[in-house]
Amino acid sequence: MIHARMSFDVSAIRRQFPLLSETADGRPPVYLDNAATTQKPRAMLDAMQSFYEHDNANPHRGMHILAERATDAYEGAREAVAGFLNAATPEEIVFTKNATESINIVARGLGAAWKKGDAVILTRLEHHSNVVPWLILKEEKGIELRWVDMDKDGHLDLSSLDSLLTDGNAKLVTVTALSNVLGIRPPLEEITRRAHAAGAPVLLDAAQSVAHHPTDVQALDCDFLAFSAHKLYGPTGIGILYGKASPLSRLPPLLGGGMMIKEVCEERYVPADIPARFEGGTPPVAEAVGFAAAIRWLGQYAWKDIEAHERKLLALAQKELLTVPGLTILGPQDVTERSGSLSFTVDGIHPHDLTHLLGERGICLRAGQHCTEPLHRHLKLMATTRLSVALYNTEEEIRAVAPAIREIQKQLRGK
Ligand SMILES: Cc1ncc(COP(=O)(O)O)c(C=O)c1O
Repeated sequence: MIHARMSFDVSAIRRQFPLLSETADGRPPVYLDNAATTQKPRAMLDAMQSFYEHDNANPHRGMHILAERATDAYEGAREAVAGFLNAATPEEIVFTKNATESINIVARGLGAAWKKGDAVILTRLEHHSNVVPWLILKEEKGIELRWVDMDKDGHLDLSSLDSLLTDGNAKLVTVTALSNVLGIRPPLEEITRRAHAAGAPVLLDAAQSVAHHPTDVQALDCDFLAFSAHKLYGPTGIGILYGKASPLSRLPPLLGGGMMIKEVCEERYVPADIPARFEGGTPPVAEAVGFAAAIRWLGQYAWKDIEAHERKLLALAQKELLTVPGLTILGPQDVTERSGSLSFTVDGIHPHDLTHLLGERGICLRAGQHCTEPLHRHLKLMATTRLSVALYNTEEEIRAVAPAIREIQKQLRGK
């Protein structure tokens, strides 16, 4: 299906986000913490409200009109997500709580059959959500975690991946599709090709990438892919696990309960087919409806416009920030290699102090390790400050940051 695209007008886009024009402390927030979560468009908020007002019921369970409507809404949302990812069928889409739960379903599911000596290959770019589930399996099963070498900017060394794959013990290769700190995008197709050639399936953590670039799971040829709706203009409380039908069907369920079974008797149960087998309990129906609305809303805009706008913002941020004395930007310096996030340090100011003082000026960034302690240790950094963009950010907002940091430097020197 071909849709006419809306022209990319940032002011018109901003007007669709109620929170962006809130003036709680007398001015609208300069919200540059989008890698943590994005703000929400009116279309998404209205869809959730309308579901509760007109269609609310527990899906799949009732035989009345409202249950039918709720079921249609929920399954319609699954189709919208399948379309967004270009999945082969909606059954390959599992609704979860968030990216973290999606990754845990794969880890617990695959890991159930693993034994000592089996290995998972991952990178130091990973968020804790894609590290800790494997560390749990290391503790429980004695599996090995193998880390792909990389340079300080986050470029992965694919020959190191090849050597980690050679003994045939790697049961999975997993990698972030976009680093939430360095803003770098690993070469996913090439990684997947090499992993598959060695017989290892691939899990992609797309928590950051989905909001900044189109995602085509068939072109990527990944076996599994995980993300959360809330970083993609959707609600909290819902995430996605995509899995190719065949490997997904082989995973045991994570949660036992209602709706995830075909049959239960006193001695045993038979799990439902995909995707229901991973959706035990009452699912996040209103959230699914809201997420589908967010996807439809985003679909009005062309990816090439979103990518061009965000690249311009990050190029401007890099140029402006580098005028601040003592400021170091992490990750690739070639801005065409970066998307989403830009993290930095400023000599003599702790990232928490800096980010707090920026917050007092209405500029919302984030400080800390951004749930990537292995990466920060590898870079020998205690913490960083992160600026992250979304399609509604403006050049004016970006231009506010560097002068505010210079002002803070002066303020702290004056103490
Ligand atoms: C790269 C990456 N992976 C996974 C996650 C986890 O997402 P969630 O907390 O929504 O499960 C995040 C969140 O910041 C992330 O940036």
